[in-house]
Amino acid sequence: MFLRNAWYVAAWGSEVTDVPLARTLLDEPVVLFRIDDGMPVALEDRCCHRQLPLSMGKVVGDGIRCGYHGLQFDAGGRCRHVPGQSAVPPGAAVRTYPLVERWGWVWIWMGDSAHADESAIPDWWFMDHPEWKVVPGNEGRPIHTRSNYELISDNLLDLSHVGYVHPDTIGSDAVVRFPVRTERKADRVVMTRLMPNVVPPPFHRVAGEFEGNVDRWMIVEAALPALIDVNVGSAEVGSGVLEGDRLQGIAYHALNAPTPETATSTHFFYAHARFFKTDSAAMDEVYRRDFYRIFMEDVAIVEAQQAALDRDPDARWIDINVDAPGLAMRALLRESIAAEATLAA
Ligand code: FES
Ligand SMILES: [Fe+2]
Repeated sequence: MFLRNAWYVAAWGSEVTDVPLARTLLDEPVVLFRIDDGMPVALEDRCCHRQLPLSMGKVVGDGIRCGYHGLQFDAGGRCRHVPGQSAVPPGAAVRTYPLVERWGWVWIWMGDSAHADESAIPDWWFMDHPEWKVVPGNEGRPIHTRSNYELISDNLLDLSHVGYVHPDTIGSDAVVRFPVRTERKADRVVMTRLMPNVVPPPFHRVAGEFEGNVDRWMIVEAALPALIDVNVGSAEVGSGVLEGDRLQGIAYHALNAPTPETATSTHFFYAHARFFKTDSAAMDEVYRRDFYRIFMEDVAIVEAQQAALDRDPDARWIDINVDAPGLAMRALLRESIAAEATLAA
């Protein structure tokens, strides 16, 4: 069961071209393409004639032509032309999905289009701001991950794992010494961990050229369905970052949008936006290469978890303190899915 009335990232803007892109989202086959005026379009990837995926067809002008018998559909999914006959049969249409292009991503609304509200897309303004530098994850493609997307949310809402999964880069022993604060809001969960006067992790020490201890922060804001802003950084001790003045030292956001493909696979979109060394090509390369490796360390974890869950879906879980934000997000998502089911009934 997925939350349908929600925005998901369907693609990087650069992935959507005049060549159809087939992508399964929430178990539904979707085709994405760009029509002649540049507008991105998402349609059900299944011709209403004999079910051929429209992604096997061609984009023509302001629509797409099926690759089997040539039916043409416009951006609204209506069939406009049937070769060899003048009339279009009644009901000749495929589903269309609302899209919004923002922050470099194409966002899709998978539920009732009457409820699609652009203001529900998170305000990740730093992904489009001249003072910030954005490096797309995985060269501007999602990482295809063989795991349920909630395992990825859990991972990002529990950063105690950095000391064990990423010890050489962003991990340090200090992290687990500091408790997390979990706040649950109407449509999101916020996790805060502030670490005053700690040894910086290897990446922060090098990137920030710190000689001694730092004040370090981790603030993770997870919005429905699984849109997760990980704001982290380090600065000189006493510089005010722990009180909220975080535009100093090394400050960056990892933006994560794990979009379910199926119940056990995910298109994992991510990007980094940083507020330090924004002109440094070498730092771009660190985010491009080293952070990809860090993300793949997490992917290995969640895929191994999924494999274990597949083997024994009823195995018992126990919970520990660091699970609080992840459990709050899981509860919020469950309640939202149940509320949607009640609405539809
Ligand atoms: S299957 Fe698409 S036109 Fe026949
Ligand atoms: Fe991680």
